[in-house]
Amino acid sequence: MMFQRTPMIAGNWKMNLRHSEATALIKTIRQGIEGLEGVEVLVAPPFTHLAVAREAIGDAPIFLAGQNMHWEMSGAFTGEISGRMLQGATCTHVILGHSERRTLFNETNETVDLKVRSATFLGLIPIVCVGETLEEREAGNTFDVLKTQLDGSLRNFKADQLMRPSTILAYEPVWAIGTGRTATPEQAQEVHRFIREWIETTFNTGTAAQVRILYGGSVKPENISDLMAQPDIDGALVGGASLKGDSFVQIIRYKGH
Ligand code: 13P
Repeated sequence: MMFQRTPMIAGNWKMNLRHSEATALIKTIRQGIEGLEGVEVLVAPPFTHLAVAREAIGDAPIFLAGQNMHWEMSGAFTGEISGRMLQGATCTHVILGHSERRTLFNETNETVDLKVRSATFLGLIPIVCVGETLEEREAGNTFDVLKTQLDGSLRNFKADQLMRPSTILAYEPVWAIGTGRTATPEQAQEVHRFIREWIETTFNTGTAAQVRILYGGSVKPENISDLMAQPDIDGALVGGASLKGDSFVQIIRYKGH
């Protein structure tokens, strides 16, 4: 039996936009998705923009996510934000283990795992990112690297033998992020299939059928349809092209209606 996974198009704003630009962008998205059904839409603004983003979203069907969080609930962690604080700012999701966090801010599979556990405990849906570098791909190590990242970043799920089907994974090949160089739909599909098989082996078939796996890395209006046509690609985590309302709306409306 095929399980129908609802596609998700998520915009990761990274460290971009002023408040006024954020408000205008959300207004364009709201108008652009009017009447649209069957696609979940999410934006992940910088922490300081969450309140402004919520104000602009109002009750429109746009999920709000943090770009990161700390695993503790509170305490002496200068500069950090807890999952509870994200919930206080009306976030339902949180991006965890983005490659920029891993490479520029020394995040490891161990700390990503702690964050995934904390988010899940709180009822925040984690969007857990994995992906190989160009060197790792060219050395033929893509699948080994991904297996290590999945085993490590979801270690607590493995220990509990439970992965909530609402958990979202994102495959973001590091060489495709912000480079204009997208993985071909076939390259992405191959990895998404590998990830789904990993979920099936580690947990069970039902979970593997339900977990959504997003693709990220130079997603644009021009390449979204071919990516979404792949059976194991359930959506996109969009960086650069999510900062412009018209291109993000075009990506959300990839089905052409
Ligand atoms: P780009 O879409 O700018 O390549 O960024 C992808 C990304 O990192 C989304 O999280």
